[in-house]
Amino acid sequence: MEVLMFVGVDYYPEHWSLERWETDARLMKEAGFNVVRILEFAWAKMEPQEGSFDFGWADMALGVLAQNGISAIIGTPTCSMPAWAKQKYPETLAMDKNGRRIEWGVRANYCSSSGTYRLLSSRITEAMAQHFKDTANVIGWQTHNEFDAHQCYCESCRSEFHAWLRKKYSTLDELNRAWGTHFWCHCISDWSQIPLPVDFKTHNPGLCLDWKRFVSHLDVRFQAEQIEIIRRACPNHFVTHNCMGLFKELNYFDLAQDLDFVSWDNYPIDGVAPGTHPVWSSMAADLMRGLKNKNFWIMEQSAGPHGWGTYGRNLRPGELRKIAYHQLAHGADGMIWFRWRSCTAGREQYWHGLLGHDGKPLRRYQEAAKTASEFHRISSKLKGTVTLSSVAIIYDYESLWAAQIQPGYACNDYVSKIARYYAALKRAGIDVDMIPPSADKLEKYKVILAPGLYVMPDALARKLDGYVRNGGVLICDGRTGVKDSSSLCHERTLPGLLSDALGISIEEYEAVSDKFSYPVSGTESLPGNYAAISYCDWVKPVTAEKLASYQDWHLQDYAAATRNRCGKGWGFYLGCETREDSYYDAFIACVLNTAGLKALDLPSGVEVSIRASESCRLMFLINHSEETLKIAVPVGARELVSGLIPKGQIELSRYEVAVLEL
Ligand code: GLA
Ligand code: ZN
Repeated sequence: MEVLMFVGVDYYPEHWSLERWETDARLMKEAGFNVVRILEFAWAKMEPQEGSFDFGWADMALGVLAQNGISAIIGTPTCSMPAWAKQKYPETLAMDKNGRRIEWGVRANYCSSSGTYRLLSSRITEAMAQHFKDTANVIGWQTHNEFDAHQCYCESCRSEFHAWLRKKYSTLDELNRAWGTHFWCHCISDWSQIPLPVDFKTHNPGLCLDWKRFVSHLDVRFQAEQIEIIRRACPNHFVTHNCMGLFKELNYFDLAQDLDFVSWDNYPIDGVAPGTHPVWSSMAADLMRGLKNKNFWIMEQSAGPHGWGTYGRNLRPGELRKIAYHQLAHGADGMIWFRWRSCTAGREQYWHGLLGHDGKPLRRYQEAAKTASEFHRISSKLKGTVTLSSVAIIYDYESLWAAQIQPGYACNDYVSKIARYYAALKRAGIDVDMIPPSADKLEKYKVILAPGLYVMPDALARKLDGYVRNGGVLICDGRTGVKDSSSLCHERTLPGLLSDALGISIEEYEAVSDKFSYPVSGTESLPGNYAAISYCDWVKPVTAEKLASYQDWHLQDYAAATRNRCGKGWGFYLGCETREDSYYDAFIACVLNTAGLKALDLPSGVEVSIRASESCRLMFLINHSEETLKIAVPVGARELVSGLIPKGQIELSRYEVAVLEL
């Protein structure tokens, strides 16, 4: 029988006695679970000595799972290396900035460029792939665990960096030009002279940006070597990786290219007060979906309080289920809770699972079981449904990194900047796609936001200009198009090649220190009074209309926000951030209005998302709050979980969800 929906847990049989395995598998089956992720930290148990393998115990565990109808995703175990590896090959350990090898005994402590480590990684991957290729209940692979682009300053990384630069630039003249090494007489006359940036605040910005690209590339290459082996041995298995949502150091668009689909690890409750809109988790999910423009899996989902030294907030009754539906709404096609049972040993004793240390199937287990059975019930409707957005946000790791290296104004954080627009869009009930700057077919979106698009190669500017002329609505803001892809400032008045599309000219700008703010007043199209914070562009409208003005005497001639008609489309520009979220709400309302899109009127705390296929349109309503909320819904739509048809309005109690078939 075809499995429509995979639901399960991250399982570590090696943490428990053999006698317990039957009980675990039976409880999983009773909960409606049909998949586990397994083995990702079990290298030393599978290869206790270099080159000698023991998979017998894993076969037994997989056998017990198979008897209970549970499939497995095998994790390659390379995130945590065995003691024999570091002892025999100390060069496999990463080196810190001071030239010291990192002490073994934590995880993710390897050097990703080390030829030895890559050989060891290939060998265990090959052995596992050969061993599990015909195991009937193995369905796919997870590469490694949470690649994190950690930096290593060893000689291998240095010479690999030099080789990578040589390939990129071919000549030193080109590298010197790209980085602008005439400044501070940093001209390079031999490849071996190139330093590794140990400090992003003082090194050449072009060097720093290339270093970040290089470190990200090392993980992509490391993963590609494993994937090549797995695909050759196991052509019928899928390959995925558990990404970390909004993690900043790795270009996930690149990492995702070699995968069949993306998975990610969702821990939305750390530090979040009850009732807070979990917008970060929404945004992360949309980014994860955007990596391949494809639905994703949750490979690790919050199952209880988490922490390594101290633990945090527990999931309230109903919240574990709500968090799962929330991800379903954003495009999850598989749901795996981390972890099955809280471990009694090691650093993660307080990262709680569905079961506690006592192993009893209690409240959190029951709630996951209820969720699983509901998911199976609606899975035939979910099958093939995807998010169809008319609004996209360009998400650019290069701009993110350039802003880390040289933010311009002090509090310039790329992801937080995007989040303010994103949150306003979600409050208006709008589904959002996250797209890379390389995305084509932009015309499928009515609105494209490009907040903080700091790095702007000419081709990208021309593409965005064309998008506007052909009828698109583009939103830009501070630091748009300041730099080229090697982090040199463009020799143009801002916003450079987007000047016509945006209809403005920015000759001067300043940062606003956190002690100050500038009063801003909106026009009828963007009503309200606000406080400009963070940065202030002195925006001169050329063909654009003013949507908001600064009130300070020295800024009277300038605009704080503008809208410009260009060709068949519109270009918006925001010249400052504001303290108030209501500014972003008013701005998004104005944008949607201009684009002919309709906002929804939602009570605060409720999130709406649509998943649709050719035959079916599902509206997910998620009550993130602890209040009971009433929401107007289309008449006649059936709610799939309860089977009831609400009469034009639905009442959702705290953490309650609804899935309406429209
Ligand atoms: C990450 C990892 C897991 C586990 C959890 C909890 O998400 O992927 O292996 O370590 O964190 O720390
Ligand atoms: Zn290294």
